[in-house]
Amino acid sequence: MITNQWYIVCFTEELKKGKPIQKKIVGKEVVAFQTVNGKIYVLEDRCCHRNVHLSLGYIKGEYIKCGYHGWEFNGNGQCTYIPSLPPDEKIPKTACIKAYSVQVKYKAVWAWFGDEEKKDEVPLPPMHEMEQWPIVFNYHAIRANIKLVAESLFDAYHINHVHRNSIKTFMGNLHDEKLNFNLRVTDTSLEGNYDRANEGSLFEKIYFGFSKTVDTHFGYWFPHTSKLDLRFKKHFTMPARQMVIYEHFYEIDEEHVMMIQITTWHNIFRFNPWFAKWFMLKKSMRIVEEDIAFLESNKHWHEQANHRDLLIKSDEVTFEFTRLWNKNIQKYGNTAQENQTKAE
Ligand code: FES
Ligand SMILES: [Fe+2]
Repeated sequence: MITNQWYIVCFTEELKKGKPIQKKIVGKEVVAFQTVNGKIYVLEDRCCHRNVHLSLGYIKGEYIKCGYHGWEFNGNGQCTYIPSLPPDEKIPKTACIKAYSVQVKYKAVWAWFGDEEKKDEVPLPPMHEMEQWPIVFNYHAIRANIKLVAESLFDAYHINHVHRNSIKTFMGNLHDEKLNFNLRVTDTSLEGNYDRANEGSLFEKIYFGFSKTVDTHFGYWFPHTSKLDLRFKKHFTMPARQMVIYEHFYEIDEEHVMMIQITTWHNIFRFNPWFAKWFMLKKSMRIVEEDIAFLESNKHWHEQANHRDLLIKSDEVTFEFTRLWNKNIQKYGNTAQENQTKAE
């Protein structure tokens, strides 16, 4: 599992409900919470008294309180109060749990699960649209191959088939012409853009424009984030519109992958923000369900020996993606401690 990375634990709006949030990310069970003063922390999801989930507890002021016997922990994972402690005893020094480094960016809470000294070397992917525009998101824990999950959003050819009953017309089509993806590859990322033929319905064309093509951008940042970005030009009195979908994903455990789909948009249904959110969430749920059926079916084959993907020339983006993946997987894999345990 790729531990030396920042991962999204949850979104800040989820913490506003004042409840601890439980997650399992790259094999680690964690609890995220926000204190009354607004500080956000991510701790190991374990009370060191009897090893129960701390996420079953609740927040009290600046502390998270275990729901079993009421021990309290601060954001550094130190136990600060034990209700049943006899007056002549001190809280044991060992009464502490692991605290993870956290940063809040793009309306999300990111935590670091790897070697502490490496955390400043690894940047977050550029997801600036999420900071400024409205977002909707949904989580899907699936049995799938993480590489296929990573690719599924920017795979240019699948849209007309997998999504033929949902967004095929809106996203436009690809014809026989040689596609130029304008790939730009760095050590840890891949970006590109191309045109899809605008085959929207009349309603979609009135709203999104009659331009012949849909300007389509995409990206991937190792190991956990993909992007699909549709740009509709200005037309009549309508402003330019944009819809950006991100997928953020990680291994939950050896078997399961979490895929978080995030949709953000600009100038779409802007006079009715409530409707826009409802619409985007409904659409993105439908799209992601269509993808998941294929992603889960692929896992089945990958578990069988001797299976190999059969790639053809038009899978150019997949070739580059695979190169990028293989190159980085060693570098950002297990923590030093985990590697040592494996060796033993
Ligand atoms: S198990 Fe948490 S306080 Fe006892
Ligand atoms: Fe898809």
